[in-house]
Amino acid sequence: MTRISLTVDGQKVADDVEPRMLLVQYLRERLGKTGTVIGCDTSNCGACTVHLNGKSVKSCNVLAVQADGAEVTTIEGLAQGGQLHAVQEAFRECHGLQCGYCTPGMIMQTVDLLNDNPDPSEEAIRHGLEGNLCRCTGYHNIVRAVQHAAGSTSGQQSEGVGA
Ligand code: FES
Ligand code: FES
Repeated sequence: MTRISLTVDGQKVADDVEPRMLLVQYLRERLGKTGTVIGCDTSNCGACTVHLNGKSVKSCNVLAVQADGAEVTTIEGLAQGGQLHAVQEAFRECHGLQCGYCTPGMIMQTVDLLNDNPDPSEEAIRHGLEGNLCRCTGYHNIVRAVQHAAGSTSGQQSEGVGA
């Protein structure tokens, strides 16, 4: 077992973990952060995307021990004081989801994308989300949602907590 301490959605946590435990397992099984989901076993789908020190990562591709000392934000840490983050709001308004399984990862990836490029072209959006798969193939509305969010995030703090 290895001792780790990190901040998750603004809360400090410390735990003993198996060195082989994945960050996604740690978030879901130890912390109950089941908003972060697992959609594949090949690091392909992006459903497990969270932010590690403000940058999006596939949490099935990171060991929990690699997050030692880090700030992690999950989909559950984006809303603040009962107010959805602008990107969450945009997905809701533009119907950027169908079954919703890919949505937490899409939203976390979108927040990172807009941090890097607040006014992305459609091509840049599609490129930025290419590591996130939507099995419902709802890409059209997802792209619209990102464009909508880009129009509404200017000036807003881009992360709910931990940024
Ligand atoms: S569960 Fe992490 S990429 Fe699919
Ligand atoms: S909304 Fe169903 S997988 Fe994307």
